[in-house]
Parts: sequence; structure tokens; C-alpha cells
Amino acid sequence: MIDIKITRTSKSTLHEVDFSNLPFGKITSDHMFVADYKDGKWQNPRIEPVHELSLHPSTMALHYGQTVFEGMKASITEDGVPLLMRQELHWERFNKSAHRMCMPEIPADIFLGGLNALVYLEKDWIPKSVGSSLYLRPFMIATDAFIGVAPSTEYKFIILTLPVGPYYAKPIKLLAEHKYVRAVRGGVGEAKNGGNYGGSLYPSKLAREKGFDQVLWLDAFNYEELQEVGTMNIFCVVNGKILTPSLDGAILDGITRKCAIEILKRKGFEVEERPITIHELIDAHKAGTFTEMFGAGTAAVVSNIDKLCYKDVEMNFSHDNFVISNLVKNEINGLRNGSIPDVYHWFVPAKG
Ligand SMILES: Cc1ncc(COP(=O)(O)O)c(C=O)c1O
Repeated sequence: MIDIKITRTSKSTLHEVDFSNLPFGKITSDHMFVADYKDGKWQNPRIEPVHELSLHPSTMALHYGQTVFEGMKASITEDGVPLLMRQELHWERFNKSAHRMCMPEIPADIFLGGLNALVYLEKDWIPKSVGSSLYLRPFMIATDAFIGVAPSTEYKFIILTLPVGPYYAKPIKLLAEHKYVRAVRGGVGEAKNGGNYGGSLYPSKLAREKGFDQVLWLDAFNYEELQEVGTMNIFCVVNGKILTPSLDGAILDGITRKCAIEILKRKGFEVEERPITIHELIDAHKAGTFTEMFGAGTAAVVSNIDKLCYKDVEMNFSHDNFVISNLVKNEINGLRNGSIPDVYHWFVPAKG
């Protein structure tokens, strides 16, 4: 284990938080974990009160997009044990993202050691109600003060924690986008790099102006194959079979996606990972065999979808058909709060 220097806050804001009404992403807990990459190695791991960063205006992350992040959640059992879900997968994906963005990988003792120590310290910040949790945001930024396109030599790794309520309170409406694209095979779509999200904002704004909640991204070559939605991977139920786009290098290898596939297979459903075209879905909807669609991601867990539009075609989904989506959602939420036994061995106590 690494030695993490802990400086505790003298002014906790925990008592100011209304845990019955948690907006997503606005409230940070008292402390953050920080480590610096300098002289070719990670050093000075520490936990400090959350504070502002002081950065030179030429800090490279502000100009050239060398930023990567993760999104995870911690929950707490009835008897007060803080739990982390599939933390190794998040660590591995973080390093994959870092590798793609030419940033240094982070060893387990810094990433997982810091995460565990921080979550353990902040365990009173973990909300207890179903659908709420402590959202964890590990991220890394390039910190050289340098104007010029090159990899930075110094980086900062930080973990923030935020108590959050449900991401989407109700089913969402999607617009399949046929002008803008999110990512292309060979690009950085499968990395959790900040630029992927920056590029999605304008088409998402246009979709919202038309009354949709999110864009469903299609492939960048033919605008045909489904990719993903905002911060979720996508699942469709066609003819009783569950379909999800295969990992093609342009979409994120979602950990909730992986969990959903494992849950569904264990429960005896047939799950197919393969390219899915928008036109086959339109045909299936006409034939009455495309019955359900949902998104899966850490923030939203599972999000029901009640409308999908593509050009002038509108596909509506009855709330009575939200069967598979609700099954996956209830299973993950139940595992998370300990009301369903963890036969998958996904949850481990955070170690202080
Ligand atoms: C673009 C994108 N797709 C899918 C997901 C879902 O991934 P996960 O289930 O690992 O949160 C996320 C969220 O991390 C995302 O940002």
C-alpha cells in the first residue's frame, strides 16, 4: 500500500446537504485525492480538502485536450459498509483512455489505493436511498505550461466524490442523428476523453430544441449503425432477443453494458452483440417486433426510452413493455444496496 498523506477539512459541509433532494453533479464532498506525475513517475499521493486549482493559462489541458476521466459509484450497506463496484474495470479503462491520449498510465496503488482511501474517508457522504449513490470522478489533466501540440511531461490525477440522486427521473426521448457524428473507428471514441463530450454538446442542444432528451449516435461512415447515447450504451429488444452494438473501437466499452449482458445471460436471455442498423429497427418496429429500448451507464444505471425518431420516422415504446430494462435496473440497484445477494462478486468494501 502507498502512504497517502491525509489533511482533513476543518469545515465539513456535510450537514448542509439535503440528501432527500440531490441534484446530479453539483455537490462535492469535503475531500479529494490528488497525485502528481513528474520526472517520469507518480508521486505525492494525498487527500486534501476540496480546493480550487491554480493553473497557468498556457496549461496544456486547457488547449489540446489531454484530459481523461472515469465515472464510478460507491454505495453503502444497511450496516454502514461502503462498497465499490467493479473498480478494477474502471482502473483498466482509465489506463486504456490514458494510453490512447498519450498520457501516463496510473498504477493500481495510486488509482485504487487513492479511491479506496477517499471513499472510506467520505463514507458519511454516501446516500442511502435506492437510485442514489456517491458518484466518483477520477480524472487526469496535462499540466505543462506550454503552447505547442505535444504530449505534456507533467500531469495531475484527481478524484472527486459527489453525492447524487437519479440521473434521469423519467423515460427519455432520442433523436437518431444523421448529420453530426460523435466518433469514428480509429478515433478516440472508446476513450473517456473530454473532447468526445465537448463535440457532442452542439448536436445535443439542437436535439433538445426539438423536444428530445438525447442524441442516438450513428456510425460515421454511413449513418446506419447504432453507436451509443450521451453517457450510455444502448440495448434494443427485437423479437424477444436483446441486441446491443458490438464494441467497434468508436463506442465506449461500458461497464454497465458488461453488467447488463452478464445479468441477462445469467437469467437465460439471449443477448447478441453485433452491428445494429437504424433501418432494421424501423422495419422491426413496423412489424411490431421492436418492443423495448434502453440505455445503460454508471450515471443513469438504466434509462427507459419511450421514443426514438430518425428523420421523419417516429417509434414509440409503451411503458408496459419496459420489462427487460426494469429487470436490469432493479437487479443493479438491488445489488448496489445489498438487498440482492452479490452472486456476481462485483462489489467489494472500500478499504481505508
Ligand atoms: C460515451 C459513454 N458511453 C457509455 C457510457 C457507459 O459506460 P459505463 O457503464 O462504464 O458508465 C459512458 C459513461 O461512462 C459514456 O460516457
